Amino acid sequence: MKLDVIILAAGQGTRMKSSKPKVLHELAGKPMLTHVIDTAMGLSVNAAGKIHVIYGHGGEQVKKTLGHLKDVEWAEQTEQLGTGHAVQQAMPGLSKDCIALILYGDVPLIQQQTLENLIATVNDTQMGLLTTLLDNPSGYGRIIRDKNNIVQKIVEHKDATKAELLVNEVNTGIMAVKSSHLQAWLNKLNNNNVQGEYYLTDIIEMAVNDDVVVVGTITNDEVEVTGINDKVQLQEMERAYQGRQAERLMREGVSMADASRFDLRGSCEVGQDVSLDINVVMEGKIKLGNRVKIGPNVLLKDIEIHDDVVVLANSVLEQAIIGSGSQIGPFARIRPDTILAENTRIGNFVEIKKTTVGKGSKISHLSYIGDSELGSGVNIGAGTITCNYDGANKFKTIIGDNAFIGSDTQLVAPVKVGKGATIGAGSTITRDTPDEKLTLSRNKQITIDSWKKPVKTKK
Ligand code: UD1
Ligand code: CA
Repeated sequence: MKLDVIILAAGQGTRMKSSKPKVLHELAGKPMLTHVIDTAMGLSVNAAGKIHVIYGHGGEQVKKTLGHLKDVEWAEQTEQLGTGHAVQQAMPGLSKDCIALILYGDVPLIQQQTLENLIATVNDTQMGLLTTLLDNPSGYGRIIRDKNNIVQKIVEHKDATKAELLVNEVNTGIMAVKSSHLQAWLNKLNNNNVQGEYYLTDIIEMAVNDDVVVVGTITNDEVEVTGINDKVQLQEMERAYQGRQAERLMREGVSMADASRFDLRGSCEVGQDVSLDINVVMEGKIKLGNRVKIGPNVLLKDIEIHDDVVVLANSVLEQAIIGSGSQIGPFARIRPDTILAENTRIGNFVEIKKTTVGKGSKISHLSYIGDSELGSGVNIGAGTITCNYDGANKFKTIIGDNAFIGSDTQLVAPVKVGKGATIGAGSTITRDTPDEKLTLSRNKQITIDSWKKPVKTKK
C-alpha cells in the first residue's frame, strides 16, 4: 500500500508576532515545515506516495518558499474550521487506497523511526495514534482508554469532564490510517462542540464504532512531539535539537569544549579526533577530516576540511576546500571557490576569494587575494593586494611556484608573476614578471640634506 503524508500547516501562528507564516520560521537554519517534509520524504515506506501540504494563512509566502519541491502537492484551506476540515482539503488528491499519515508543520522534530513504527500498526482493522504522557496535559486532547487499556476516544480539553481532565495521556495529533477509513469518517464529522470546529480527533470514536482498533503508541520523547507556537518554544526546540546534534557528533568521536555553544545548521561528516572549541557555527554541508581542530568563534559554511587542519579563532570559511595540514587564522576569511592544497598557511586579516593555492604556500598577514592561481611554495608578504577588478570586470593573477612577493605589493590583474620570481616590497606590478628575477617598481629613495625639522611658532 502506498503512503501519502498530509501535513497540516494552515494555522496562523499569531503568537509568533511575525509577518512570516509560522511554519516558515527556521529551526537549525531550515523552515519548520521543511523539517517535516524532509522527514516524510525520508520514510522508507514512502516509496511512491505523495506529500500533501495544507496551507492557509500566508499561503503565498509558504508556496513561494517551498513551492519548488518535487512530490509535494499543495491544498488550500481558505478558512480554518478545524483539524478535521483541514485534512478534508487533502482528500481529493490522495492516492487510491493508501495509508494516510497525518503530520503538522509546527511539530518539526518528529522522528522517522517513530513514524515507521506507527505506520506498521495500520491495516484493514487497525489504525495508529501517537500519544504522549505529560505532567501538565492542560490544553491537549485527552486519550480515553477502556478497562482493557484500548483507546476509545479523544476528548478535547475544552469539551472534557472533570474526570477526563485528570488523564495525562494526550493526543499528539499524529496518526496513520487507511485512506478509505479516513474518508468515510471525515464525511461524518460535525462541529457540535465547544469550539464549533471540525475535530479530526472525532474519528477515533468512529473507528472504535466501526470495529477498527486504535493502536495508541506512547512516545516518551517530548521533543519529537512538541508543537511550536511562539519564539520562546522555538528557541527551546532549537537548543534541544542542537543538543542532540552535538551529542551525535560526540558519540562519533568529536571533542567539544561546550556542547551548549555549538550550532549545526545543515549536515556534518567527521573523521576521528576532531575537536571543536566554543561557539563553532556550521552551516550547509560540512566535511571534517581526521584530527581537524577548530578554534573558538569560527563560522564554517559548505566546506571540506582535510586531515590535520587547524582553524584558529574568529575565522570565517565558506565554500572552500582546505588541504591537509594547513593552518588558517586567526581572523582569516576564506570566501567561495577557494581551494588550498596541503600545508598552506593563511594568517590573520587575510581574505581569499576564488583562488587556488599550491602546496606549502603562505599568505600570513593582511592581504586580499582574489581570482588568483598560486603555485606551490609561494610566499605572499604582508599587505599584498590583488587588484582584480577595474570597476567593470574581474581579472586573474597567476603566481608561479616559489615566487616571493614583497610586502605591500599591488598586483594589477591580469598579471603573471614568474616561477621563483621575487617582487620588491611596495611595488605596483602591472606587467608580467620573468622567472627567477627580482622585479620592483619603486621611486628611488632620496635623502634631503638641507631639510630641517619644523619648530612650533610662539604666539
Ligand atoms: C490539536 C488536537 C489535540 C491535540 C493537539 C496537539 C484536534 C481537534 N485537537 O489541538 O487533541 O492534543 O492538537 O497539539 O485536532 N490546523 C489547520 N487548520 C485548521 C486547524 C488547525 O491547519 O483549521 C493546524 C494548525 O496549524 C496546527 C494543527 O493543525 O498546526 C493543530 O491545530 P490547533 O488548533 O493548534 O489544535 P489544538 O487545539 O492544539
Ligand atoms: Ca496547538
